[in-house]
Amino acid sequence: MVSKSLGHLFLVSFPAQGHVNPLLRLGKILASKGFLVTFSTTETIGKQMRKGSGVIDKLTPFGDGFIRFEFFEDGWAEDEDWHQDLDQYLLQLELVGKQVIPQMIKKNAEQGRPVCCLINNPFIPWVTDVATSLSLPSAMLWVQSCACFASYYHFYHGTVPFPDEEYPEIDVQLPCMPLLKHDEVPSFLHPTTPYPFLRRAILGQYKNLDRPFCILMETFEALEPELIKHMSEIFPIKAVGPLFRNPKAPKTTVHGDLLKADDCIEWLDTKPPSSVVYVSFGSVVQLKQDQWNEIAYGLLNSGVSFLLAMKPPHKDSGHDLLVLPDGFLEKAGDRGKVVQWSPQEKVLAHPSVACFVTHCGWNSTMEALTSGMPVVAFPQWGDQVTNAKYLVDILKVGVRMSRGEAENKLITRDEIEKCLLEATAGPKEVEMKENAMKWKEAAVAEGGSSDWNIRYFTDDIVK
Ligand code: UDX
Repeated sequence: MVSKSLGHLFLVSFPAQGHVNPLLRLGKILASKGFLVTFSTTETIGKQMRKGSGVIDKLTPFGDGFIRFEFFEDGWAEDEDWHQDLDQYLLQLELVGKQVIPQMIKKNAEQGRPVCCLINNPFIPWVTDVATSLSLPSAMLWVQSCACFASYYHFYHGTVPFPDEEYPEIDVQLPCMPLLKHDEVPSFLHPTTPYPFLRRAILGQYKNLDRPFCILMETFEALEPELIKHMSEIFPIKAVGPLFRNPKAPKTTVHGDLLKADDCIEWLDTKPPSSVVYVSFGSVVQLKQDQWNEIAYGLLNSGVSFLLAMKPPHKDSGHDLLVLPDGFLEKAGDRGKVVQWSPQEKVLAHPSVACFVTHCGWNSTMEALTSGMPVVAFPQWGDQVTNAKYLVDILKVGVRMSRGEAENKLITRDEIEKCLLEATAGPKEVEMKENAMKWKEAAVAEGGSSDWNIRYFTDDIVK
């Protein structure tokens, strides 16, 4: 079977939805080009992917190649949420991973599937060390924007001043980037971030980033042209996004959802074109109950139709189960639909959807841009605040509902209603839609730079 493929690529993913999706999408592109791709991550995620129905437990032909899955135990209790102790979890994952990944690769070789390259995503830079110890080349997939990559890089090397305790409100000017106000810098770099462990996890990667032979990036050249060029002088970067549009991919059920998506497409089918606001905050963000109340009333008062995705919190997260205000569903009637997890790619491609209220996670950002979808930006933390800056001020496809880390603020129903109306009925609506369509065209342009970069990358592997 390997003899029929261009080679065997072994992908290792950090166990989180925002990491699994882009790496699996890359895996599908590489498989469709003729490689055998093994996608591996932890057994806990494997179980969730099976529940989400995305995993096929056998070797699956995929375009000109094949895809398969292998999961490994991370030794972390399944009912314990690692978000509560990321430092400890990363140590444990590294300890276990450095033992089991070489064993998995050895076993694959014994079974006639020798691996020719390892590819990992962020938070697990030790995969590069594993590759070196096995004399294999390795590449990394960066799953955020080049702007965030550059921000972390400059912070790590101290090349320019960032907000600190003494000057928490200084603006930051980085090469080939727009001026970032203090609350537009990735918030984990801010002295007051409540998430210093995420800053440690992100910066920890820059220690051995000179070792992968290629850093693939989920962005595209038209989106961040000067910056990608500039950072490519420092790192072997290849922009290969957007990864979720793969013209060669066969119709398949292989996907990375960790929850089974609720059906809402039939409901969207009943709605007029560009009439529904889609609201979703990705897989990690947990809004507080009082913020959900304001969102619910903002939606009701605005009079718009809406599809609301409310992911239940992990049972170990310390967050209460979220509820909608009394009588909300009755008042909304058929004007609104609430689900726990949506088939987001399909939703964003649906003609009835007018705009996307998003936390601006990078996957959601790329999916919106590639779907020509205007946004209402409601960033919460981390890269999301920088992504919101780009969406609103640079790419001009959105309105901003909040600035900086929004977690400890309360955005009121009136502010929410105002933003929803601005995005769906105001003079800005047309301009945002036109810009969004322009970015969609740029993102999906066939034979574009990302296609070529994938081609150069695979040529490097097979030569
Ligand atoms: C995390 C971080 O929060 C984010 O800041 C970073 O950029 C990536 O890692 P996450 O919060 O999960 O990501 O958001 P996002 O990057 O947008 O990824 C969420 C993924 O889940 C998207 O691919 C989206 O399509 C999918 N999704 C989300 C669904 O399929 N259905 C849903 O209901 C919600």
